Amino acid sequence: MGKEIKRIAVFTSGGDAPGMNAALRAVVRTSAFHDLHVHGISRGYEGMIDGEFKRMEIRDVGNIIHRGGTVLKTARSPRFLTPEGRKAAHESLTAFDIDGCIAIGGNGTFTGAEIFSKECNIPFIGIPGTIDNDLYGTDYTIGFDTAINTAVEAVDKIRDTADSHNRLFFVEVMGRNSGFIALSTGIGSGAESVLIPEVDASLDALIDKLKKGARRKKLFSIVIVAEGNKEGGATTIAQKVQEAFDYYDTKVAIIGHLQRGGSPSCFDRVLASRLGFAAVEGLIAGKRNVMAGIVNNKVTFTPFQDAITKEKPVEDDLVRMAEILAI
Ligand code: F6P
Repeated sequence: MGKEIKRIAVFTSGGDAPGMNAALRAVVRTSAFHDLHVHGISRGYEGMIDGEFKRMEIRDVGNIIHRGGTVLKTARSPRFLTPEGRKAAHESLTAFDIDGCIAIGGNGTFTGAEIFSKECNIPFIGIPGTIDNDLYGTDYTIGFDTAINTAVEAVDKIRDTADSHNRLFFVEVMGRNSGFIALSTGIGSGAESVLIPEVDASLDALIDKLKKGARRKKLFSIVIVAEGNKEGGATTIAQKVQEAFDYYDTKVAIIGHLQRGGSPSCFDRVLASRLGFAAVEGLIAGKRNVMAGIVNNKVTFTPFQDAITKEKPVEDDLVRMAEILAI
């Protein structure tokens, strides 16, 4: 049986994601309900190292559920990768008498938590907050739904101008090593093709498809490219395609960090609320070094080790369907 949890710390780390504030609100309010003291740490592991802790009460998280970004701020922390950095972070947690931590972030955040919690014996619970949706142990990560809605809205606008000018557009979306954003954006925006890191698609096949479209007098086309695609980003691919097939005037649009901002969708707010609530109650119930997630609409807890190392595959059925619907 571990030490009773009385004082917890919460932080956001890595790339921000819409809905992180809703998760923070749920953590603070669930903690207040259970009479726990909560400290918010600024700038993720960086703030933990530098001792940037602030007591958070119920009213501190009022009026944030609808806000994008993270009011706690976030950072990627090279210092936390070093033993000296982690020692300083441990000293800060000890100085504030922290019994348990809640980390809101993605793969890098949980990798740090897994190493650290073993070294210093402070229990961690993770809440998956990343637009990439690439964590094993949850069907959805916080921010993914908002990001794909932003991307689809952008592609709808690109479609108007592509149509007016009879152009071929390569639209690059985020997803460092994964194609979840690209696949959903492609299906949701009715794109001609989707190029994702998980599927070895040949450019020849894409060019053939575009040629067939041109023979059917297709006047414009949109191809969605995940930034982590193996053949290169949208700019590289557009260049290669244009060299082999110059029927269309070809353009590139990179949606980029637009996908990370904005007010979270209702889906992300509900997901974040459920996971924030579950993380606190899980910590109180004795769960350690696990990520709270939603699988088949039920809250589950997955060991960090699995969440960060096991692969979450894109659904083959969706990849096949996207191809068929784009003919
Ligand atoms: O992990 C989320 C993500 O938005 C990736 O899709 C993207 O590759 C990366 O973060 C960008 O990170 P940064 O904002 O640090 O450049």
